[in-house]
Amino acid sequence: MSPEISRYFIIQELIYRWRRKIRKDNRPYWLKKITSKINTKYVTRFVKPQFKHLGKGSVFFKPKYMKLFGSSISVGNFATFIAAPDDYIQMTSWDAGEWAGKINIGDYVLISPGVRMMAALSISIDDSCMFGHGSCITDADWHGIYDRTKVVGEPKPVVLEKNVWVGEDAMICKGVTIGENSIIGARSVVTKDVPPNSIYAGNPAAFIRNLDEGEFITRKDFFNDPVKLAHDFDLLDRHTLAANSLWSWIKSIIWRDNTH
Ligand SMILES: CC(C)(COP(=O)(O)OP(=O)(O)OC[C@H]1O[C@@H](n2cnc3c(N)ncnc32)[C@H](O)[C@@H]1OP(=O)(O)O)[C@@H](O)C(=O)NCCC(=O)NCCS
Repeated sequence: MSPEISRYFIIQELIYRWRRKIRKDNRPYWLKKITSKINTKYVTRFVKPQFKHLGKGSVFFKPKYMKLFGSSISVGNFATFIAAPDDYIQMTSWDAGEWAGKINIGDYVLISPGVRMMAALSISIDDSCMFGHGSCITDADWHGIYDRTKVVGEPKPVVLEKNVWVGEDAMICKGVTIGENSIIGARSVVTKDVPPNSIYAGNPAAFIRNLDEGEFITRKDFFNDPVKLAHDFDLLDRHTLAANSLWSWIKSIIWRDNTH
């Protein structure tokens, strides 16, 4: 099993523990499988219809904490959405009045809790982009500079090329293009274009350094054999949950001790 898969599995496990405030996943294997089937059904019934298009293989953690508004939000294949009760993922394609905002997201993207995207015109995100906790992308100011009663203002399209990584709480403002592989530092405010293969950070975001133009390992590489990936995850589940029983799971809820 590749180190990438083990790493990803550990992250999933940590997200589960963090959300449940427990030390480990106490569910028996079969219960985890039932829970994930219910989750998939919830996504199919309530979340998928809100997208204009949702490709195959997407993973949703806590999908009920996603707010999607508008008729033009499209997402490609193998996206990962991690929502949380205290940090909704919010995506708005503003399609009221004269506006027909579009959010077009490619394959393999990672969307963390608290991410917000608001489009009155167009937000375009290419494959393998990653969004840190609380980051925000908007293509408009949502009010006029002089006419404060004006809805939306003067939007300008936002483009993120392949494999861009946006750090925690960063804000990407209207009209910005971020080039392939570039990184935006945590809490940055990006108001101007960012060239490919570079790190920008700060408020307003400024050049930090260039990245080597060698081959990056991206989320696309991680998902290149989805059948094997699913199989490996299942093996890891069987292995890590093997010692859990229904009783130990119930005990972890009503009478927790430091083994749970
Ligand atoms: C942008 C980042 C990746 C750069 O990492 P790095 O290459 O190791 O950079 P360094 O720590 O060597 O810092 C280089 C310079 O950039 C500055 N810098 C780094 N991050 C910054 C930020 N977010 N805002 C402002 N300045 C920043 C440093 O102060 C330093 O300045 P100096 O050269 O004047 O001393 C990292 O700082 C960052 O912001 N990571 C956050 C990632 C994140 O949010 N992950 C969440 C999960 S997706």
